[in-house]
Amino acid sequence: MADAGAQFYDNPEVFATYLERRGQPTSANDTLELPIIRLLLPELKDLSILDLGCGDAALAPELIKAGAHQYFGIDGSDKMIELASGKPLDSRIRISHGFIENPELYQPNTYDLVLSRLAFHYIESLEVLFERIYQTLRPGGYLVFSAEHPVITSNQLSIKQGSNRQDWVVDRYFMTGKRQFKWMGGEVIKYHHTLEDYFQALSKQGFVVEELRESRPDPKRFKDRKLLERRSRVPLYLFMKARKV
Ligand SMILES: C[S@@+](CC[C@H](N)C(=O)[O-])C[C@H]1O[C@@H](n2cnc3c(N)ncnc32)[C@H](O)[C@@H]1O
Repeated sequence: MADAGAQFYDNPEVFATYLERRGQPTSANDTLELPIIRLLLPELKDLSILDLGCGDAALAPELIKAGAHQYFGIDGSDKMIELASGKPLDSRIRISHGFIENPELYQPNTYDLVLSRLAFHYIESLEVLFERIYQTLRPGGYLVFSAEHPVITSNQLSIKQGSNRQDWVVDRYFMTGKRQFKWMGGEVIKYHHTLEDYFQALSKQGFVVEELRESRPDPKRFKDRKLLERRSRVPLYLFMKARKV
């Protein structure tokens, strides 16, 4: 049986594989995802931040050091919360077990920045999610997120070829919704949304999309030319920065 996003990471085999992959200095997260997230973050001074699907909340100390007023991270995986809470935390950092779908998280006019890294492709309804995020942001506040790129979530034919796949297949692109993937030793449910879906769901709420990125690799971050070539073939991640006006 396939697991929903958060439960998936509580599978011991999945969690071990995830930590092993994230620990590698050449991981796609460190070479592609994190640098673009850093680029998209607004000036952090005095901001109240909500991080949805925060994982081990590794970025929290950096955000506080850059001047953020407070950081609240939630994640639905017990193992992730255990990992995040196991580190010494600044009193301005709060981490809690919780689900992105929980409407109670989104108290009106509470945060200046809602951040989410690689969790929105586990969420079925972008419209409901973005409506809640819009509500919880103060006017002028930002939503910055990364998600698996729609060319990757469109189907599982590529992933079936294993981690060293040589071709990527984009298929059923406009047939959006639930997908099941065998991945990292488990089976997970993701939700495929098109690029247009992300944009339209943001615009519908009144967000102004200020930035859109697609994990274009920066050659300076790659010593290994072969890896750079591989990362230049398809976009792994989608990023957006949107402002509540
Ligand atoms: C790929 S990990 C990314 C973790 C972290 N944001 C990072 O980039 O280091 C995805 C995270 O989203 C969490 N997640 C997935 N679906 C969720 C949901 N519906 N509610 C809360 N957390 C969820 C998972 O538990 C997992 O920690």
